[in-house]
Amino acid sequence: MRYVYFATFFVVALAVSVLGLRGTRFTHPPLELFPDMDHQAHLKPMATSALFADGRADRPIPPHTVAAGLPLDDDDGLFRGKAADGSFLTALPAPIKVDARLLARGQDRFTIYCQPCHGALGDGQGITKQYGMTTTPSYFDDRRLKLTVGELFSTITNGSVKTPEGKQNMLPYADKLAVEDRWAVVAYVRALQRTQTGTLKDVTDAAAKEALLKTK
Ligand code: HEC
Repeated sequence: MRYVYFATFFVVALAVSVLGLRGTRFTHPPLELFPDMDHQAHLKPMATSALFADGRADRPIPPHTVAAGLPLDDDDGLFRGKAADGSFLTALPAPIKVDARLLARGQDRFTIYCQPCHGALGDGQGITKQYGMTTTPSYFDDRRLKLTVGELFSTITNGSVKTPEGKQNMLPYADKLAVEDRWAVVAYVRALQRTQTGTLKDVTDAAAKEALLKTK
């Protein structure tokens, strides 16, 4: 019988210690077996510091740099994919020149960063589909064929538009792709779309047209 009392006491003590402290705020960090560099010496914003001659903890921005997140002078829509009136660009911004080099770069970056989900063709059948990532769409449905280059750029920069529940199915790639590389990927995605929408009319070179007709 004594053991029943012990067991009951143990269970009650365990329940209180686990459940009773839920929601309690502690001023000290809990026991951490693996601190993983969580706690490091640092200076708080707006604080003073004897380390620097001017006594400020906040350091001025080094010359010729732009702080991330600050509004940029974006006349061409190069950085945001948007025109001055806020509408998405329908043509690539002037500083981006479409040539074989740009498309090769776009293909190179696409293969690394986009193909795992979107597939080499852009049909949404990337390798991740086999591992349960079923939400990746094809670029070839009616709505996505009509996405402007500005919208494509914005999707790469900011990720996909959040669902009403606040879930973002595609994360931003701005930290992985420089601005020019993002435009290169945009051009390459357009090229992938053209593989599905192109017609014989698009072939302007007479010899190429004849060769194509022979293969039909
Ligand atoms: C981890 C998987 C994954 C990777 C990698 C990925 N995407 Fe996506 N992408 C998605 C998913 C999922 C959606 C659907 C988002 C939605 O509709 O909510 C999507 C949607 C899109 C869309 C359509 C947006 C729209 O308005 O419908 C475009 C365009 C796109 N991705 C381009 C890219 C490009 C370019 C890259 C590479 C830089 C890339 N994605 C990398 C998963 C991915």
